Amino acid sequence: MTESKKEEKKQASDEPKNEKRRKFLLAAAGGVGVAWVGAAAYPVYKYLAPQPVPDPFGEDGKALVDKISPADVARPGTGKNGGYASRGIIVLRNGDGDLKAFDSKCTHAGCNVEFQGDKIHCNCHGGNYDLTGKNISGPPPKPLTELKVFEQDGALYVSRLEPEKKG
Ligand code: FES
Repeated sequence: MTESKKEEKKQASDEPKNEKRRKFLLAAAGGVGVAWVGAAAYPVYKYLAPQPVPDPFGEDGKALVDKISPADVARPGTGKNGGYASRGIIVLRNGDGDLKAFDSKCTHAGCNVEFQGDKIHCNCHGGNYDLTGKNISGPPPKPLTELKVFEQDGALYVSRLEPEKKG
């Protein structure tokens, strides 16, 4: 047998081993690549993923109203913008003497609406709500979110308005 024939025979017998090695290295490189992409993408996903919105009413089920005292809304027809749990709020006393509160986030695009005596107005796109929180003109598609408001220990608090029970 000539040297070249021996070499060809050796190469032929090594080919299955080389093929196995090649497949193993490709699989290992693929696994490392997937792990690297996962490790790089996870922090981005964590940053971009929507965060759960904290409950503004907390464990007590109520939140203190900032910048509006009971005296500010003592008379019918009075109202004021304030805040609760890092959000905006409008508290008003309507003509019937009922105390009302609305989250001041406009239902159109989320701007802060403003109490204007006879209506609630949004400066962003000219939306208007009546004093029951109902959208009456402009782009807002639905009423403001009403909150339950009450006085306790000389301060105003709000809580979630329970839906009226039918029956
Ligand atoms: S955000 Fe209020 S009218 Fe557009």
